[in-house]
Amino acid sequence: MSTVIRFDSVSKHYPRYHHLSGGIKNFLFNLPKSIRGLREDRFKALEEISFSINSGESVAFVGRNGAGKSTTLGLIAQVLKPTTGQVTVSRRVSPLLELGGGFHPDLSGIENIQLNGVLMGLSRKQVKSRMEAIIDFAELGEFIDQPIRTYSSGMLSRLGFSVIANLDPEILLIDEVLAVGDASFQEKCLKKISEFKKSGVTIVLVSHSENDILRVCDRAIWIENHRLRMDGPAGDVMTGYRDSVSHP
Ligand SMILES: Nc1ncnc2c1ncn2[C@@H]1O[C@H](COP(=O)(O)OP(=O)(O)O)[C@@H](O)[C@H]1O
Ligand SMILES: [Mg+2]
Repeated sequence: MSTVIRFDSVSKHYPRYHHLSGGIKNFLFNLPKSIRGLREDRFKALEEISFSINSGESVAFVGRNGAGKSTTLGLIAQVLKPTTGQVTVSRRVSPLLELGGGFHPDLSGIENIQLNGVLMGLSRKQVKSRMEAIIDFAELGEFIDQPIRTYSSGMLSRLGFSVIANLDPEILLIDEVLAVGDASFQEKCLKKISEFKKSGVTIVLVSHSENDILRVCDRAIWIENHRLRMDGPAGDVMTGYRDSVSHP
């Protein structure tokens, strides 16, 4: 089995936003010290995370809000760079599927499909040939011609998933978009994800639905307080996580 995603002691820090408690004059008067303070006071979104994922694995990331799951996916998608440590990704990654991510609010559903297809490296001809399948999968009816700022979150997730499902990713990244769709669309997405899995696509899923995780993923990685808490068979990790949420 070949490794397709590898994190070696990866940390991601963000600058923290400040109020100048002593006022701007004080800040400027003590400039070197002030700057040092700003530099040291960084928000640690991820701390020393290491794991590797093999080709064809299906892995869920779980953890509370703010734990660092989306940051992890952003690093895999290479839209974020680690502050320290190394991220290695050796296959074609689907664009990170987040709600509305990559969509332009004033363009229609169809125009957004065209835009995304081209951004993802398809030729116009390829986009055209997949257009019908994408529109069919999304089941948005006449809304497909409306600007997507008029879409509900469920409709956005339909459009996003449909685009991704009709590209051919080698690594599929899905960040919490299934939950906002209705039951029938969720079911359709889970079936599609299972098909991807059968055909050997590596799947990385962030979800708060234990059912979805157990249905799709063999392995889960639990991130707690920006650190890796547990990595193992999905059933074991979900049991550990559930216990910790109910008895914090
Ligand atoms: N661009 C950013 N600037 C500052 N802090 C951020 C930024 N993105 C995320 N964070 C912080 O990093 C932490 C982890 O965020 P995230 O990975 O989105 O968590 P999760 O997806 O697990 O809910 C959160 O506390 C969040 O506030
Ligand atoms: Mg998130």
